Amino acid sequence: MTGRILTFPDGFRWGVATAAHQNEGNNTRNDFWAWEQIPGHVADGSTSGLACDWWNRAEEDFDRAAALGLNTLRMSVEWSRVEPRPGVWDAAAFDRYREMLKGLLARGLEPMVTLHHFTNPLWLAQRGGWANGEVVSLFRRYAAKVVETLGDLCQVWCTINEPSIYAAHAYVLGKWSPGESSLLKFIRVTRNQIKAHAAAYHAIHRRQPGAQVGIVKHMAAFDPADPASAADRRVAAIRDALLNWRFVDAVTEGRLKFPFGTGLGRHAPAVDSSDFIGLNYYGRHPLRFDPAAAGTLFAGETQVPPEIAWPEPWTDREIYPAGLQRFLTRLARYGRPLYVTENGMADATDEIRPGFILTHLAALHRAIRQGVDVRGYYYWTLVDNYEWVEGWTTRFGLIALDPATQERTPRRSAQLYAEIARANAITGEMVEKYAPAAMGQVFGD
Ligand code: NOJ
Repeated sequence: MTGRILTFPDGFRWGVATAAHQNEGNNTRNDFWAWEQIPGHVADGSTSGLACDWWNRAEEDFDRAAALGLNTLRMSVEWSRVEPRPGVWDAAAFDRYREMLKGLLARGLEPMVTLHHFTNPLWLAQRGGWANGEVVSLFRRYAAKVVETLGDLCQVWCTINEPSIYAAHAYVLGKWSPGESSLLKFIRVTRNQIKAHAAAYHAIHRRQPGAQVGIVKHMAAFDPADPASAADRRVAAIRDALLNWRFVDAVTEGRLKFPFGTGLGRHAPAVDSSDFIGLNYYGRHPLRFDPAAAGTLFAGETQVPPEIAWPEPWTDREIYPAGLQRFLTRLARYGRPLYVTENGMADATDEIRPGFILTHLAALHRAIRQGVDVRGYYYWTLVDNYEWVEGWTTRFGLIALDPATQERTPRRSAQLYAEIARANAITGEMVEKYAPAAMGQVFGD
């Protein structure tokens, strides 16, 4: 095994991704907090509570990230903290974010800051949230204020995290606040997200010309369960277009294609409104056409063979590293730098995660070898955090957390990821030590 090595480009960003509501604790002024309190909404009946207690002690975890040899960290600003009432800014909340960003910089961790990561101030939710066109100017005002206040400490901004996942969960699947099931609302919300993203993009650049501003787009490999079935192929293609590509087309070419628009004209502000594209990639969903669910466009997922499926409760998702390479090479056609802004898996025992990390990084490396401009990788996530309506049932962290005691215990994957980041490479020895069965897949034998 000696001598086998996949070296990453100089300056490659090694990071972890996090989100305010999942990490900070006590985000009582947003709509997700309110949603969590209602019995039946969260799988284990838990609430985010203190989460990872980052509002008080993020720096202790920043130390851990720095000790792993990482050079960047993705976090988000919680809109409801900095703007608790419309147009009213909370200086103390901004001070805390300044302190956090300074803490990252002092530890050699370049901040990447997301402005919207699923949660909304209660006052915005009460005004109709993302279904109300007013959100475009409200989001622009919020983005402008954040950059005016924190722009000296951060240059890399993600406007909206996983817009299509948010719109689908909140407005079609009814799983997140406001719990609606309306395709029309999904379309309206998506249009508003595109316009809000574009408005924020320009507001940020006006205040910080050197900023790097991008979208963070979730992409799942939607493939037909039976490639020979025309109906399965059709369903997979529709979902791929709708949930993976339409948004990216909009914030690059400016075209709002069907069903978000006619695709004929351009929404001028959206043209070239993403300096980079952030890709969140988690796996493959083989789709079978299900006439009973045909109307929703979102149902009909099949079970994946257990040996390649994710652990409970996400058994409809397949571990599929080749999908990462596929999306990176397809995204390359937009001609901008790419970041893997999230990739990771829920695995409390850490039996599968080391192989998951190694095989996905090998897939990313193959994309780089094909000439794709991938600048960094952010593992989701550093410390187990609150997983939305899955609550505390799923553990994505490199470091395990007991939310009751706040005790942290590094998993083996933390050590593996540290070795990779420090070497800026994957070596045969690492694979041998952490996931020998993945050797062939990592080195392409
Ligand atoms: C995507 C989301 O951005 C993040 O909030 C979530 O925790 C992870 N994926 C894992 O599901």
